This record gives sequence, structure tokens and C-alpha cells, in this order.
Amino acid sequence: MKASVIAHKDFTISKIDDRVYGAFLEHLGRAIYEGIYEPDHPTADANGMRGDVAKLVKDLNVPVVRYPGGNFVSAYNWEDGIGPRDQRPTRLDLAWHTSESNQVGIHEFADWCDSVGTEMMLAVNLGSRGVDDARNFLEYVNHPGGSYWSDLRVKNGRKDPWDVKLWCLGNEMDGPWQVGHKDAAEYGKLAANTARAMRMFDRSLELIACGSSNADMPSYPDWERIVLEHTYDHVDYISLHMYFANHEKNTGNFLALSHKLDTYIETVAATIRQVKSKKRSNRDIYICFDEWNVWYHSRQQDRVILEGNSGWPHAPGLLEDIYNFEDVLMVGLILNTFIRRSDVVKIACIAQLVNVIAPIMTERGGPAWAQTIYYPYYFASIYGRGTALNLLVNSPGYDSIHADNAPYVDVSGVYNEEEGILTFFLVNRHASETADVEVSLQGFTAGQIVDHQVMTHNNLEAVNTAKNQNEVAPRKGTGAKAEGGTLSVQLPAYSYQMVRVKV
Ligand code: AHR
Repeated sequence: MKASVIAHKDFTISKIDDRVYGAFLEHLGRAIYEGIYEPDHPTADANGMRGDVAKLVKDLNVPVVRYPGGNFVSAYNWEDGIGPRDQRPTRLDLAWHTSESNQVGIHEFADWCDSVGTEMMLAVNLGSRGVDDARNFLEYVNHPGGSYWSDLRVKNGRKDPWDVKLWCLGNEMDGPWQVGHKDAAEYGKLAANTARAMRMFDRSLELIACGSSNADMPSYPDWERIVLEHTYDHVDYISLHMYFANHEKNTGNFLALSHKLDTYIETVAATIRQVKSKKRSNRDIYICFDEWNVWYHSRQQDRVILEGNSGWPHAPGLLEDIYNFEDVLMVGLILNTFIRRSDVVKIACIAQLVNVIAPIMTERGGPAWAQTIYYPYYFASIYGRGTALNLLVNSPGYDSIHADNAPYVDVSGVYNEEEGILTFFLVNRHASETADVEVSLQGFTAGQIVDHQVMTHNNLEAVNTAKNQNEVAPRKGTGAKAEGGTLSVQLPAYSYQMVRVKV
């Protein structure tokens, strides 16, 4: 199979916001406890944070981490997680039917963010609480001192405010599973009032209103329109979530889900434009895709806990998807979609970061390792920074339930002007054919290939485990050439690649 691509220096989409490579950590399962925090672990630091996990996170150069939920936030009292640890209450978490010890709260999370070099993106509870709680939390986190909440923060050991800019106004409020679920108008009014109060404190905050939990919600896409009609002048982003599943074991359909993602983004982008026109507004609102990932491997095994049949355990293993090689391709396709839609998707968070539907897994007292999907996320986060190119791609395709003629070869291209490097991320969706891809580099003078990474495996279901951590891992590619203005690269059947060319 042959595919051709034109990459022209002047055909650009947008400067990519680095925060599109963000992540998410929720008080859920073993994400926090036994994930980032395990005081008895041999690698734990003075704060009880696992050093082996911190190293894997640091390597990813995650720009921003959303916290503390997720569904959890909708009945969370943030004050439970401050002050002396031995006086913090244990609460029942209704979202995941577990107990929350509150041994990690905002202070511990903020210190951990500092240690791994990332920024916080905080969510306020608009489920069981509202404006009052949001303004208090904001004052605690961002005010220098001289007020009740800021002085309490100082007393609790943190002198300087954290100055958090990104704030989520609740989580998935369209979902009936959410504590304090609301209809679009109720939520829109509450989000607008909360945003107004938060902006009275600081006009420079970046605020995110909840969009749909997924594109199959009955309220979608009216939800976005109604919420934006209430909030357009007060927020900066509307959030979207999407999880990808291959229940039917049909790889072709699964990998075509990135087209459904693209349509979802396009629909919400159009809704933003519609409300902008209706409001006669000059402001632009963007998409914050603050939960995305493959999620289905663990659904069956989680049922017992989620239905409440095992009581209220603390940090049980929940949503522990073990990712396979097929998921590498899907995650590569999702990230390619975000790069191509970087004109509207400014922030995105892989959900989640550790243990819970996550690229990093841990064993209690044991190792931490990279799941298969760690690698496409790693390559995009490290090398996908710069300007997204508007590539012209010509590839044979196939019909799927999500798209007709879905191209076998999916490509995104990023030009990093400071480094003078062009990076391409490529996925071959074909089950049996190698793709010979020729990229015509126009407006660039191609130099040597500076990096070429390939991920293939003869078994789509191959996974990494504690004992066999490198079953699915990238290897150096060979054979790619950049000559006479053309980059030539061969993509084996079902493969993910990254090629970087000095220009
Ligand atoms: O990431 C897991 C859960 O998925 C989050 O808590 C929720 O927001 C979504 O439904």
C-alpha cells in the first residue's frame, strides 16, 4: 500500500498549547494511595510520595495535572484534606463506593506537583456544594495572606499562595451518576455564578465549564449550547470527555473511533461559534478535553465494588485497565487528532496518570512500570510541541461503523521552529499491509533524520506486566530517508511510529 503526504511550511493549523499533553489524577482506586503516595514504599520521599512513580511522571514532562476528580469531586469537602493528618476525617466516597482517608489533600498534591515539575488544574465541587465552597477554596489556594482561609493555609505550613490559574467548574454535571447532577440550564446558571464570584477574586483565572461526558449522552450537543448561553462571557473553555472501547473485538471499528472524536470536537467547536454569534461576542472559547483514554478492559471486574457489594474499601484496585499493543495505536490516533485540532483543543488530560486507566502501573511495595500506552503519550508530550501542520494526506481507506473510507495511514506533523525539527507521528491501521509513505517537504530544506521510533508487535493483545515490563516498547527505526525534499518511511501493518527530521 502507498500513501502520500504534503507538508508545507506555510500550511499551519495552530501553535499547539503545551497543555494538550496534560493528565488527570483523581481520588479513585489506587491512583493517589499506592499510586503517587505510599509512605512505606522503599522509594518514598519524606512526604510519602513514591520516587519511582515520580520519575516516570517527570520523564513525561506533564505540563498540567487535573485534581481531585472526576466524579469524586462532586461530593468532596476540600477542607477534609488540610491540617494535621492524624486529625483528618475518613469519609465515604459515594462516587466510587469507597472510604477516603484524606491523607492526601491539596498540600500534599501541590508538593508532589512541584516535585514532578507540573502545574495544578483544580476542580471545585458543584455537585453537593456551590459558589461559597468554590470561593473559599480559591482564597485558600491563591490568596497571599491576611484573610481567614489564606491564614489557615499559612498555619498549615504553606506560606506562599500556589497561584493556580486553571479551575474546572465541577465535573460531568450532565451525568445522572454524578452527585448533584443538574440539567443544562441549572448547571449553566450555577457555573456562571461560580465563575463570576471567582473572577471577582481574580480576573486572570482560566475557567472551564463542563461540557458533555461523552458524545452519546442524550443531552449532547444541546448541553453545550445551553451551558454556553449561560456561561459564554464568564468562562474560557468548555470541557469534553471521551473514553474508547473495543468491546466487540473489532480492531477496524475501534481504531476508527478517532473519527468519532474528530466529529465530537467539530460539533462542539461549531456550537461555540453559534453561541459566540448569538452573543455578538468578540471572545473565543476553546475546548478543554480533560478526560480521554482507552477504558474498557477493567469494566467487568470493577462491577462488584461499584455496585457496593464489597463495602467501603479504602483505595481498592479500581479501573485498572491493563493496556495492550492495540491501545498504543488508539492512543497514537487520539493524540494525532488533538494535534490536528489544536486550533480549538487547547488543553487535554489523559485519564488518568497512575493505576486508574493509566499509563503508569504500580504494585504495593513493588515496582512501578510503563504500560504500553505510556509510549505514544511520551513521544507526543516530549516531541509534539510547536506548530501543528495542516498536512494533505492521501491514503487508501476502509469502511467502519464510525467512518467511511477511514484512511489506513493517519499522520500528524509538528514543526518546532526553535529546534528546526519537523516531527511526524504516524499510525498504520492496516491489519496486514505495510504502508510506503512519502512525505513531500515543501518550504523546508530537509536535513538528516534525528530520531525514528517504531512500535509494532505480532500480537495486538500483548501487554507489559510487573515481571515483563518491556514486552511492548519502542525500538529505533531503520530505513527512513529524507532525500531530495522527500521523507520516505515504511510503516509495517498495525504500527505506530515517530520520525523527526532536522530542517
Ligand atoms: O476517569 C474516571 C471517571 O470517568 C471520572 O471520575 C469521571 O469524570 C468519568 O466518568
